[in-house]
Amino acid sequence: MEIITAVRGFKDILPGETERWQFVEETARKIFSDFGFKEIRVPVLEKTELFRRSIGETTDIVEKEMYTFEDRGGESLTLRPEATASVMRAFLEHSLHGGDSVSKLFTFGPMFRRERPQKGRYRQFHQINVELLGSADPLVDAEVIHMLMLFLERVHLKNVNLEINSLGCPGCRPAFRKVLGQFLSQKEKDLCEDCRRRLGTNPLRVFDCKVEGCRAAVSSAPLLIDYICAGCAGHFREVQEGLKVLETGFSLNPRMVRGLDYYTKTTFEVTTKALGAQNAVAGGGRYDRLVKDLGGPEVPGIGFAAGVERLISLLPEGMEGVSRSPDLYVAALGPEAKKIAFRLCNGIRRQGFLAETDYSGRSLKSQMKRSDRLGAGYTLLIGENEIREGKALLRNMKDGSQGSIGLEDAEAQLLSLLKAR
Ligand code: HAM
Repeated sequence: MEIITAVRGFKDILPGETERWQFVEETARKIFSDFGFKEIRVPVLEKTELFRRSIGETTDIVEKEMYTFEDRGGESLTLRPEATASVMRAFLEHSLHGGDSVSKLFTFGPMFRRERPQKGRYRQFHQINVELLGSADPLVDAEVIHMLMLFLERVHLKNVNLEINSLGCPGCRPAFRKVLGQFLSQKEKDLCEDCRRRLGTNPLRVFDCKVEGCRAAVSSAPLLIDYICAGCAGHFREVQEGLKVLETGFSLNPRMVRGLDYYTKTTFEVTTKALGAQNAVAGGGRYDRLVKDLGGPEVPGIGFAAGVERLISLLPEGMEGVSRSPDLYVAALGPEAKKIAFRLCNGIRRQGFLAETDYSGRSLKSQMKRSDRLGAGYTLLIGENEIREGKALLRNMKDGSQGSIGLEDAEAQLLSLLKAR
């Protein structure tokens, strides 16, 4: 019979890899908590309307990539393509804005986008996501970006570039949209079908298009950064000053538009050349209108998400700490020895040590081999002779030395040995 495999674009994370994931998550948890962020966990399934309203009807995500279905009750539901919208929904639903004036939240978890799978691009992928709500101060932008860069540094990610831009606000963006629309309509024949359609709906999206003709068309296009209002320009200047104070290097990328429509003012991306076409490790920005657009009060916000698969594929070897090996391996032969091993191993585990044994009845020799392969610290050998004599052979696997210990108080003896290690 053929085995059933995972869905295309969905992948398993296996032991050996999970240690890297734990290392990344623990590092994030520590740093974010030093900056005053608290964890929030939100569902992976939401009402479709939430993403339509927040990410934007004319984005690739909403137009083409969402896993949307009608559930048995006839309601349209969507597997979340990102976490920001869900965090905003939870923020409003539980009136978190009624508490402290600033809410600092982070969340980890899987996201779902039906893109064409390729290296660094999956249909289920994971994000480490941060949102700060309740402050419009540009220093907060600098602080959040600084925290992201610090996190990347602490997981030993090398050779990344921080690119920043300003996308203006509802005061200045519409005028630019018009200018850009006019410019691009002169080049309409060079644009792909999608971008021709976008001309009427969301011309800024053309900056994100990978088709050669469209890239050429925008290469000489007017840039939003030259059209933003004095307020947005001042904000952007202060963000840059803040980053300089925190010694966080960056470069300006006036063509970065981000793939989600909720951004205002500061946007940023962390890119690397090591990832090929999928070069963004993390991205984010300010979204001062989003909470209001979702029916809430006027609460400004800023956040980012890092793609965990991409991040992990870039980590240098050996940065994750080694996976845990048994402190003790009990090689037991025969039913009586098996019973002793069973009791002994579980007693040792209750004291916080990793004990391993084998109930398969394999020869002592093959159990010794397994102990070696697992990297055990000590191996205890219990066969019929040992039971008769009331003592077992203990081998130190590091230096090969061995001695015997009485079976009567084996657990206590082993524990004192393990504690002394
Ligand atoms: P995003 O740029 O769409 O932003 O995604 C953030 C990161 O998720 C990307 O930089 C990338 O590393 C990773 N990513 C995205 N799509 C895939 C995929 N198909 N396969 C693997 N990794 C992927 C957001 O999602 C915003 N919600 C970020 C944010 C939070 N903005 C404000 N707050």
